This record gives sequence, structure tokens and C-alpha cells, in this order.
Amino acid sequence: MVDTARHDAWSSGNSYELYMGRWSRRIADRFLDLVAARPGQDWVEVGCGTGALSSAILSRAAPARLTAVEPSAAFLTTARAAIADPRASFVAGDAQALPLADASADILTAGLVLNFIPDRARALAEMHRVLRPGGRLAVYVWDYPGGGVGFIRAFWTAAVALDPGAADLTETGRFPFCTPEGLTEMVSAAGFRDITVTAITDEARFPDFADFWRPFTLGAGPAPGYCATLPEDIRDRLRQRLAADLTPGSDGAITLPLRAWALQART
Ligand SMILES: C[S@@+](CC[C@H](N)C(=O)[O-])C[C@H]1O[C@@H](n2cnc3c(N)ncnc32)[C@H](O)[C@@H]1O
Repeated sequence: MVDTARHDAWSSGNSYELYMGRWSRRIADRFLDLVAARPGQDWVEVGCGTGALSSAILSRAAPARLTAVEPSAAFLTTARAAIADPRASFVAGDAQALPLADASADILTAGLVLNFIPDRARALAEMHRVLRPGGRLAVYVWDYPGGGVGFIRAFWTAAVALDPGAADLTETGRFPFCTPEGLTEMVSAAGFRDITVTAITDEARFPDFADFWRPFTLGAGPAPGYCATLPEDIRDRLRQRLAADLTPGSDGAITLPLRAWALQART
């Protein structure tokens, strides 16, 4: 079987920030506006990465506590260094076996994480266990099937044209369930109710092609992880192809769409 997750490199906080963190921070703010949580609640965040959503929760949602769980030691180091808030604790752990007590959270969130978890049913059962009765699940994922991360879609379109074997690695193929229907079915099967799914849309604006391309060379995330494995001449052909595919605006900037699905539900 092809291991389509083999390039999911979650190992360098700074590289991740350039590739995804700068966009995920913007989506996190929009997501919290949508959630409109009451102050003073106990939050759990799963897969906090470098802390994009964690810092937004702390600054916008007035939590009593935030327990953020993350398997990558490097990302935890980045998040801990960036966020010194007595309400927050950053814990090493996996969504499929959360190191947290039963019924200990009012709200459980995960930003851009659910699709990367190998056993999502198990992770959702864990999330249900950790939430208090009537507690809220509030998560979001990119709309991969709908091309909701324009820069990732542009990358794989060019990469697959040069290397058809890369087709198995695209997030569009790997995560077909990242649709309102797919997410609702998955979360409903885990016993959640009152499920709603809402689109969050935005744009990623790269001042120039160099700013678009550089994060793909830094190895953090599936597409950059794949890019890092390419011999230099192939990587250079890929860069040239992308430069030809993308049409900058009159100021040289490249603007591509972003769309995430935000799902909310109750235990
Ligand atoms: C795209 S990043 C999102 C990070 C952060 N939430 C954000 O919005 O920027 C995906 C994150 O999921 C984490 N992750 C992957 N597999 C996981 C698992 N089984 N349990 C918990 N987190 C996981 C990765 O380590 C990474 O931090």
C-alpha cells in the first residue's frame, strides 16, 4: 500500500509558520468569531502545532484554561516559546489517545488537524470522552476537495504534471471527506449532535513569486516534505513550471483562494 502520509513532515516550527502558520492564524481569528464562545470556559485544543489557534483563543475567547495537545516535539517547543500565558499548558500527546481526563472540557477544538489523524473515528471518540455532557466540539479543516487552499492546489497541479506518481500524495485525493457532508457523517457517527458546518473564506496574498515558492523548499508539511525529496534539477523544473502557471497581479503579487469548513456540534 502506498504511504500517502510519508511526507507529512511536522518538524520545524519556523518553516511551518511560513508555509501555513501565517494563513492558519487568519482563519483561526475568523473561526473564533464564528464560535463566539462564552468567557471562562475550559478549552482543549488538539494538534496545536506552533500555536496559531492557541494564541487566538487566549487573546479573543477569554478561556479559564487552555490545554493544547500536540505530538510534534519541535512544534511544542515553538508554541511554548511563543506563548507565555498562565492559562495555557502545552502537552505532548496524540488525538487518538488524549492524555486528558473524562468530561474535563467545555469546548474542544482542532484547527486544520482532523484530516491528518490516521484513525479519525478513534480520535473523535476521544474528543467526545474528554468533553463534558453538552460540551461543544468546534473544529475546522481546509476545503481540500474544493481547492480551498489555492497555493497547495497550484503546487500539486504542477508537481503531478512533472511526476504523475505524486498524484497519490495530493490532499485532494487523500482527504475527500473534507466536505460538509463528509465531516457531518464522521462526527455524527461518533455520537455528536446539533451539527453545523460553515464556510470560512479568505485569500492568501504572496507579494511575489519568491514568497510563494520559498515555503515549499523548507520541508514542513506534506507538499514541502515532498518538494524536499526531489533532486535539485527536478525541483528547479517544478519552480519554473509554477512560475509559468501563476499569473501575478499588476503589483507582482500572487493571490490565491482560501476556504475552510468549520464544524460545530454538541456531545
Ligand atoms: C496543519 S497543522 C495545524 C497546526 C495548528 N493547529 C494550526 O492551525 O496552525 C496539523 C497539525 O496536526 C498535528 N497532528 C498530526 N497528527 C496528529 C495526531 N494524531 N494527533 C494530534 N495532532 C496531530 C501535527 O503535528 C500538526 O501540528
